[in-house]
Amino acid sequence: MSLSQFLPAFAQLKTPFYFYDIDLLQQTMAACKKEMNRYGYHAHYALKANNNEKIVKLLRDAGFGADCVSGNEVLYAVKNGFAPKQIVYSGVGKTDEEINHAIAHNIFCINCESVQELEVVNALSAKAGKVVDISIRLNPDIDPHTHEYITTGLEENKFGISEWEFNHMVERLQASKNLRLIALHAHVGSQITDMPVFEKLCCRINELQQVLADKGVTVEHLNMGGGLGVNYEDPEGHPIADFAGYFAIFHKHLSLRPGQTLHFEPGRPLVAQCASLITRVLYVKNGQKKNFVVVDGGMTDLLRPALYQAQHAIRQLSSDKMPQAYDVVGPICESADCFGKNIMLPQASRGDFIALRTAGAYGQTMCMRYNLRDLPPAVYSDELPLSV
Ligand SMILES: Cc1ncc(COP(=O)(O)O)c(C=O)c1O
Repeated sequence: MSLSQFLPAFAQLKTPFYFYDIDLLQQTMAACKKEMNRYGYHAHYALKANNNEKIVKLLRDAGFGADCVSGNEVLYAVKNGFAPKQIVYSGVGKTDEEINHAIAHNIFCINCESVQELEVVNALSAKAGKVVDISIRLNPDIDPHTHEYITTGLEENKFGISEWEFNHMVERLQASKNLRLIALHAHVGSQITDMPVFEKLCCRINELQQVLADKGVTVEHLNMGGGLGVNYEDPEGHPIADFAGYFAIFHKHLSLRPGQTLHFEPGRPLVAQCASLITRVLYVKNGQKKNFVVVDGGMTDLLRPALYQAQHAIRQLSSDKMPQAYDVVGPICESADCFGKNIMLPQASRGDFIALRTAGAYGQTMCMRYNLRDLPPAVYSDELPLSV
């Protein structure tokens, strides 16, 4: 579906807004499910990637569970109808209140990230008079070859429990009468496009699972987190992530014990490509060194370029005039408020539509009100006429 088809409808709307291509979301969910079902895997959608209620409900209806990283996400998942036994909860800094929410709702498992957290979850479970299902988030010390801010599985990262802590962890587990260890978990990073990283992860988990088995620790489930990358350069050419290649790697390289089930927590690959941030050109500044296109959406609406130096494909929807190089910038009082430098775009005019593509993951969910700006609304393809 081409964005230009919706231009007459866009012309009636205030910009900036997030535009969701619901057909593409449905196709993406179906592709992921098809490949998972081939091997009997389970997936818990990572709500942090996008918690827009309509999008979340579509994922729930497609049969995905929920992966949460805060107590409020756990409550939101429950409120939006996810079965508690399909909800997992990670996070290196869970508060007592957040842990109590997870305990109260009998979720599938709490992914514990430190030995001290095990002790706290045990104490709170005892207080609630329950035996609570948990998993151990392992820190496998794997370099995912992605941006340093979304690298989570290296020893130097704050996440998970490292191999050198295993003896202590096993002692604590044995002393924790209100915990039941059901899973081992790992999530080594996000936007991973170097597929051999996942092969390395499998080999490392095989080793760690054996180290733990030698200490008498065995589990019913493995959870390999999320991380599959999407194509930010050519979203039109690669609208759906390589789910087939991804799951095949785990099938081939991860040694599941008899009866063990395998779980994942995909976020970005499910929702990234289905949305674009639609903006209008406010001003064109032709300078001596640079030409600027100033659009009405900024880093408060799409933070990834400022936060991670991420590059989203930028498309001019209104004209096909001669291309020219522009820096595409937003209106926020920060020089980091830049979506791209030296981007070739058809010669721009005030009022032209500019789309920031692949904005469905970590886009709307990271919006903020810095400069007291309005939050961008969401617009959905299945609620808009193709022509007006
Ligand atoms: C614990 C956990 N699981 C899953 C995800 C989802 O990752 P992605 O959006 O790359 O699939 C994240 C995001 O970083 C995470 O922190």
